[in-house]
Amino acid sequence: MTRLDKLIADKLNTTRSEAKLLIKKGEVFVNSNAIFSPDFKCSEADEITVSGKKLSADKFVYIMMNKPKGFVCASEDRDEKTVVELLPDDMKIKNLFPAGRLDKDTTGFVLITNDGEFAHSILCPKKHVEKTYLALLDKPVECSVIKDFESGMELGKEKLMPAKLSTENEEKTLAKIVIRQGIYHQIKRMFKKHGLEVLELKRIKIGNLPLDKNLKEGESRYITQDELKLIKEV
Ligand code: URA
Repeated sequence: MTRLDKLIADKLNTTRSEAKLLIKKGEVFVNSNAIFSPDFKCSEADEITVSGKKLSADKFVYIMMNKPKGFVCASEDRDEKTVVELLPDDMKIKNLFPAGRLDKDTTGFVLITNDGEFAHSILCPKKHVEKTYLALLDKPVECSVIKDFESGMELGKEKLMPAKLSTENEEKTLAKIVIRQGIYHQIKRMFKKHGLEVLELKRIKIGNLPLDKNLKEGESRYITQDELKLIKEV
């Protein structure tokens, strides 16, 4: 959560004292309530109007997190630390949830939002949003594995959608995988079928939006509207 005067100053590109003046003059409404205290706590999800003009039309927020190991992809959990709890206080608003699950020991790009419809649209396999991962394996990847990934492999009773697999180092132990589904432990199970163990797994891209290289593990930032479009680009 952020102080109201700071949020207004940031959004209107003005000074904190000018923002305070607007608040004191009764020009500022948060969710239709007049607010007179500059230190009132609000967030990106609140509807703020200044002098009758909507400041933040963003009802929904979209956050990119570089997930570290040790956190589960959930809003709350009785036993485990969650990615939503890991968000900095000023990003923690109501109804946030991770759009999709990474395992507790997987790192990388997690999208956290309060927009259920958007989450569904990127998770539903029919929408074909690709998720790209890097995996470190205990043995080299053979050509037969690549073929099985690409032809849509049988996994248990399921026939998976075709996935892309390429090797990224000379030893062929570092692999890039692109999948469109999100079946439980999917990538680990796909390699296990071929006798390979995933030692490290990191999601590096959702759709055409790569994980921001400036985000350290555990850090988060808002996704811009332009970036949001990249997610859905096939
Ligand atoms: N596949 C897995 O096996 N684990 C993940 O966290 C994501 C994809």
